[in-house]
Amino acid sequence: MQKPEAHILTIFGASGDLTRRKLIPALYNLYLQDLLPDHFAVMGAGRKPFTDQIFREQMSAALKSHTSRPPGNSTEKAESFIKMLYYTSLDTSDPDSYKSLKLRLGKLGKENQTKGNMIFYLAIPPSLYTPVAHSLAAQKLTNDTDGWKRIIVEKPFGYDLESSRDLNISLREVFNEEQIYRIDHYLGKETVQNIMVTRFSNGIFEPIWNRNYVSHVEITAAESLGVGDRGGYYEGSGALRDMFQNHILQIVALVSMEPPVWADSSSIRNEMVKVLDSIRQLTVEDVKRDVVRGQYTDSVVRGENIIGYREEKGVETDSRTETYAGLKFFIDNWRWKDVPFYARTGKRLPTRVTEIVIHFEGTPHHIFRHNQGTSAHNQLIIRIQPDEGLLLKFGMKTPGAGYNVQDVNMDFHYSSLSEVYLPAAYERLLLDCMLGDSTLYARGDAVESAWRFVDPILKFWEENPSHALYGYPAGTWGPKEADDLFKDDLTWRYPCRNLADDGLYCEL
Ligand code: BG6
Repeated sequence: MQKPEAHILTIFGASGDLTRRKLIPALYNLYLQDLLPDHFAVMGAGRKPFTDQIFREQMSAALKSHTSRPPGNSTEKAESFIKMLYYTSLDTSDPDSYKSLKLRLGKLGKENQTKGNMIFYLAIPPSLYTPVAHSLAAQKLTNDTDGWKRIIVEKPFGYDLESSRDLNISLREVFNEEQIYRIDHYLGKETVQNIMVTRFSNGIFEPIWNRNYVSHVEITAAESLGVGDRGGYYEGSGALRDMFQNHILQIVALVSMEPPVWADSSSIRNEMVKVLDSIRQLTVEDVKRDVVRGQYTDSVVRGENIIGYREEKGVETDSRTETYAGLKFFIDNWRWKDVPFYARTGKRLPTRVTEIVIHFEGTPHHIFRHNQGTSAHNQLIIRIQPDEGLLLKFGMKTPGAGYNVQDVNMDFHYSSLSEVYLPAAYERLLLDCMLGDSTLYARGDAVESAWRFVDPILKFWEENPSHALYGYPAGTWGPKEADDLFKDDLTWRYPCRNLADDGLYCEL
């Protein structure tokens, strides 16, 4: 595996949660796999007045609780990794702070021979993206003349189409598009990348991956947890902005895009944008009929009292923020014309599962008797998480007299590749940015395209606050009105039953 070139990674928001829970553990895992550059340093930058020593102690504690250790872990390794971490306290609104940051980076660069190469990771509130980027530019820390410079921007990338455009414009005033890495951690998930490999490295799927053979596509991103202590953030976001605009639409793009000419960043991202641009815009009538929003209410799950969303910390007692969104939409192109896509995401659902179900058309004529409860439609289920894998459901003859058909599964679990280490999303994404590979980062036009689809829905809700918002008890699969998005007797695939009040639960 290729090692990245020497550089310094500066993390803005270094005293925050993301750094502690995801970024430092991901860097450590890369270190254990010998995937960090030989000349490398991490500069944490944050408001808190830490010294290098305090920052190191804190990150050392974080490693103990937040790493899924790949092979090679040891105390000495952890100690030598921690020595690569430094800290500068910084007031993002004070130009002098950036001067001292520049001085420290210059000194550290000389000591570590990092050749002026730098990555800036913005793990800070979105309102600071533009000021920080422009302050870096004012210190001449954004141009590529003396070593390369890259910037990683966390989500949310904008609040709606207009603000995402503004953000793109202001970042591009000081960085080129090739220097900007917009993170969507779903693209860093092994199984999300595998969507492309499944489709384009096998001869059997692609010929039937279209309107002639697929009846509909279903995407579920369910979480069993509530908003926890993120109520304040979530009130200004909701499920559509938090999960659908980014993670789910990126998955939709990978599932539905045309084969790229080659597996490089621009070929893949060109195809992703093309298909996102082809999603049919929803009219007001479509939104009323094809978008269902819900909010979890209190209930008892496995004997435990679960509070409703409106009781969560930081949430208004009359909040109309959706914690569930279910949608039906279409992609207007040759491949997918009139094939419905269904997507749902929500918090406090019965289990944590993200999966894609490709439902194939049935046989044109049934000559066998199907056992009760079996389906005449094949399904391919791509399990993104947990229990990553691929499941194909098809009919088999029930042994014995006659020709009865029963459903059986062909099931592949990544866990059966026991010797294979599945890297965490941030690990893969950080490494890619270090290598200058932006394939798994969202391009500016793709982000805008996703907002273009979501905007009319948000606008309709904003202008019609009394539009139906269905309560659903925590631990259930969201409002039952979301079932009505389907025609005839079709419905969502339910990987397990409701948990609320019925004492039943399932482990996937
Ligand atoms: C984040 C959202 O982007 O994704 C969270 O802000 C959500 O609300 C999380 O919980 C889900 O990510 P994962 O990897 O746990 O499915």
